[in-house]
Amino acid sequence: MADDALPEVDFQQCITTMFGTPFVSVDWPDVDEINSEIYDLVLAEEQADDLGRGIRSNAGGWQSRGNILTRTELCLVKLKEMMETTIFELLAAIVRKDSGERSFKLVFDSWANVCRNNNYNVVHSHPNAMYSIVYYVSSGEPDQSIPYSGMLELLDPREATTYIQVPNTILDARMFITNRPGRMVVFPSWVKHMVHPFVGNGVRISIACNVNVLEEIRTTRPRDFDVATSG
Ligand SMILES: [Fe+2]
Repeated sequence: MADDALPEVDFQQCITTMFGTPFVSVDWPDVDEINSEIYDLVLAEEQADDLGRGIRSNAGGWQSRGNILTRTELCLVKLKEMMETTIFELLAAIVRKDSGERSFKLVFDSWANVCRNNNYNVVHSHPNAMYSIVYYVSSGEPDQSIPYSGMLELLDPREATTYIQVPNTILDARMFITNRPGRMVVFPSWVKHMVHPFVGNGVRISIACNVNVLEEIRTTRPRDFDVATSG
């Protein structure tokens, strides 16, 4: 090495992000059949319900009451399994590898969202939950000339990130999710989000779910102590 050269450093091994936010987006294949069944089931429930309207974040449209995934129709049982699998895969990815075998249980609360022309969801988060899931059943026919029509937007809670000086990097602060049937996204429940007004024809349907993760605590055998005996 010449005297005036810098020592070699592999900088790509030195750079990471801090305070990471887990996010999953998976496009499930072969879901046309269950999506069709869920579509019919949700619209039938909407027809039969005049109490659920407007009880959560929706402006217009309809949201079912909770725990739709406790129903026993096979399409919903399968969707719940898909959600459980996704959360377990996420947990496997984020637990520290040196922490030994871990065992988790999931607690779900889930509901259906129906969105038609001009309906949207205001900015909100999901209190009392750890992860939130959205699964898209049908996209409707959003008007392609309207920006963001029916898109989910996740908002970066670190407001100052919008002041970033270098544009078009992996740190960009706005994140949009296109409703594509079969797509499932997972994000921490504290992340504020919204659905932009859906402008178009048809019906946009999603199933949303809050998940709490409980860890099964292993009890260990009490330590054996040496006991001094006399006599
Ligand atoms: Fe939400």
